[in-house]
Amino acid sequence: MASASLLKSSLVLNKSEFVKGQPLRHPSAVVVRCQPVSTSAFTVRASSYADELVKTAKTVASPGRGILAMDESNATCGKRLASIGLENTEANRQAYRTLLVTAPGLGQYISGAILFEETLYQSTIDGKKMVDVLVEQGIVPGIKVDKGLVPLAGSNNESWCQGLDGLASRSAAYYQQGARFAKWRTVVSIPNGPSALAVKEAAWGLARYAAISQDNGLVPIVEPEILLDGEHGIDRTFEVAQKVWAEVFFYLAENNVMFEGILLKPSMVTPGAESKDKATPEQVAEYTLNLLKRRIPPAVPGIMFLSGGQSEVEATLNLNAMNQAPNPWHVSFSYARALQNTCLKTWGGRPENVKAAQDTLLVRAKANSLAQLGKYTGEGESEDAKKGMFVKGYVY
Ligand code: 13P
Repeated sequence: MASASLLKSSLVLNKSEFVKGQPLRHPSAVVVRCQPVSTSAFTVRASSYADELVKTAKTVASPGRGILAMDESNATCGKRLASIGLENTEANRQAYRTLLVTAPGLGQYISGAILFEETLYQSTIDGKKMVDVLVEQGIVPGIKVDKGLVPLAGSNNESWCQGLDGLASRSAAYYQQGARFAKWRTVVSIPNGPSALAVKEAAWGLARYAAISQDNGLVPIVEPEILLDGEHGIDRTFEVAQKVWAEVFFYLAENNVMFEGILLKPSMVTPGAESKDKATPEQVAEYTLNLLKRRIPPAVPGIMFLSGGQSEVEATLNLNAMNQAPNPWHVSFSYARALQNTCLKTWGGRPENVKAAQDTLLVRAKANSLAQLGKYTGEGESEDAKKGMFVKGYVY
């Protein structure tokens, strides 16, 4: 009843496309009063952007496409650049991101790109706005809005994610700059608990962020990453993931988040990285789809997995295994490391390698596009693409 009224209300709202440069509409909330079901009345709050949010989410979750996560913070980007012997300067970050966004035909496989704030406001080395290049490629620009992880006092060495202060005004500015979706990544550690406190804090933060994003026209990507760290088996990951997603959806509902206008970014259900057990893509797919079916309503348009330290090929094989039968949601990728790793190495900071590096990115993007359609065979993959990228205690 509530969601039907909410959807109905979205049909009468103004439509707008996700192209940049449109006037910013007043982001105030519309209050939709529903008829009482029984004796008590209730209200559902719908963002004035409801219609557009649904449309953006559907565009990002479109067949055969997924997200390029290129939102490494300056510190993380510095680590990536150091791995190829480059200094962490703005010019080097700009050169690398230019290479990524200008890869010819990228939009065939990539529907959205998550940017760090610097890139959202940055131009390519040829002086074109990065955002404009993406839109020309048919790629929706997105923005990382969280402010990173800090220790969670009172917990077992766990963390919480900062960034709610000032989020509404930042989100409005990001929308004006061309962003149409947002990302907030918080983490849950299995070896450190997870404590009830850490799970609740993660879920509540994600829900507040999601509500604020929707109020400002940004489709929130909800990302409670369950870290790969640990020696536990796949059943333990499954148990923790069920708990985490139950809590996330409880608070999303409590915060009146419109499920049709969100995207999820879960970790796949796998054994811990230091476990003696290994899981096949079929096992990962079975566990992960069971989790999703139990916890994620079909109103959610898209599930865009993170790669979390899996090798490029592993992440693609696992995604492919999940798409062997129709799912209630678009099941796709939002990879950073599993799309960029060989591309970065191929580039090595040399202008003469840009084309070869872009070709490598396109190979990975195409492989994951095929995996989204359940048609990836794994043939002809390089040895480099099979190397795992797990880093213990990884900080993004
Ligand atoms: P990885 O695919 O490298 O785990 O990154 C995911 C992410 O959250 C970046 O947005």
